[in-house]
Amino acid sequence: MPNPRTPRTYRVKSFGCQMNVYDGERMAELLADKGMAPAAEGEDADLVVLNTCHIREKAAEKVYSDIGRLKKADGSKPLIAVAGCVAQAEGEEIMARAPAVSMVVGPQAYHRLPDLLDKAARGERATDTDMPANAKFDVLPQRRRTGPSAFLTVQEGCDKFCTYCVVPYTRGAEISRPYKDLIEEAHKLIDSGAREITLLGQNVNAWSGENAKGDAIGLDGLIRELAKIPDLRRIRYTTSHPMDVTEGLVSVHFEVDKLMPFLHLPVQSGSDRVLKAMNRSHTAESYLRLLERFRAARPDIALSGDFIVGFPGETDAEFEETLKLIDEVRYAQAFSFKYSARPGTPAADMDGHIAPEVMDERLQRLQAAINRDQLAFNQASAGKTCTVLVERKGKHPGQWLGKSPWLQSVHFTGNAAIGDLVAVELAEAGPNSLSARLLEPATA
Ligand code: 5AD
Ligand code: SF4
Repeated sequence: MPNPRTPRTYRVKSFGCQMNVYDGERMAELLADKGMAPAAEGEDADLVVLNTCHIREKAAEKVYSDIGRLKKADGSKPLIAVAGCVAQAEGEEIMARAPAVSMVVGPQAYHRLPDLLDKAARGERATDTDMPANAKFDVLPQRRRTGPSAFLTVQEGCDKFCTYCVVPYTRGAEISRPYKDLIEEAHKLIDSGAREITLLGQNVNAWSGENAKGDAIGLDGLIRELAKIPDLRRIRYTTSHPMDVTEGLVSVHFEVDKLMPFLHLPVQSGSDRVLKAMNRSHTAESYLRLLERFRAARPDIALSGDFIVGFPGETDAEFEETLKLIDEVRYAQAFSFKYSARPGTPAADMDGHIAPEVMDERLQRLQAAINRDQLAFNQASAGKTCTVLVERKGKHPGQWLGKSPWLQSVHFTGNAAIGDLVAVELAEAGPNSLSARLLEPATA
């Protein structure tokens, strides 16, 4: 009789950033490699992996309530693994507080999930939050079938120590994956259907490596090499840090057509005093000058950013400076967050924590400004001709969904297939998407 704790089906639930989504996919591949099957939609899974995010809000509380809620139809608990950044930061506490959890595995150790599963099958509970640089990528199974748009983690970790952020503690020091491994993984992704690759890293533009000739290269060099692969049609990268922007990265936007005209460059605040307290090592002015350089290289570049409102000590006037910066940049999209004190970070011990109502009000005003600019950007795109990478079917018969070069969601009707890169004319613009007319011939 098989061991009742030997799981046959799994479900990976990922929260948080794209890096976590990527990690979740890789964990799913590991489990599939071990002979397990993904649980069907609506069905119980024998193993549930909660791939957690620690960057904001009451992340740990949410994990405990998720654990409490997890039940199979017969009332029994599935095997539960907690992965991701909450696992890294609070692994021991999770084990102590949540007896239903069998496994805790950090973001740098999830390649050892199969070992932990073997232990769990023997009824042992196990934690692995080691941080061996690069080790996991060497032992993860090969990439499996993928959609037309795929992620590729090229860099992990962060040495910037922004005073509000847990990432340097949960993801560890900056490491770059070796060039050769990345080119290999890119080929695997493309062979299995990817037409667009988004290079991922906490500070992706800090990536460095050696090309096949042994020359030292940066992210721009990697992009230039990837662009030579004929079946790869589009390249993106995220997230960048202003301090690691090189002249090469700016000019690769001018030189490489396959690199999409889109830049996610978080600024966090428009106030130099707040930026200093955040340890961001740039000013509002130096950030704006950087954007000017990107715009000179690629005039149609769409800009995106991250903002935090209510950092400790942020005054009304300092918040106004952030709104002023937004007015100046006119982002195509942006992410904004209320400051959340993260235990163990320097900002958590700073004076001047901002009242929740003030944060709410600032967030609303900031998001209104961003939404205004996003709609204006979409409206200014109407009438433009561009390509769309078809990612999936829409709700209506014959309708397709995909992304424009500027990362806008686009829907159109006509003769196409998933993975096609089609030429369209953008038509009506909404705040979050645009409709388009398919141009013939269908393949661009
Ligand atoms: N509180 C609020 N937002 C945060 N971010 C990171 N740490 C915090 C925090 N403690 C935001 C930043 C970052 C994005 C990924 O999350 O804007 O760029
Ligand atoms: Fe966090 Fe700052 Fe590093 Fe981004 S650059 S991951 S915000 S410490």
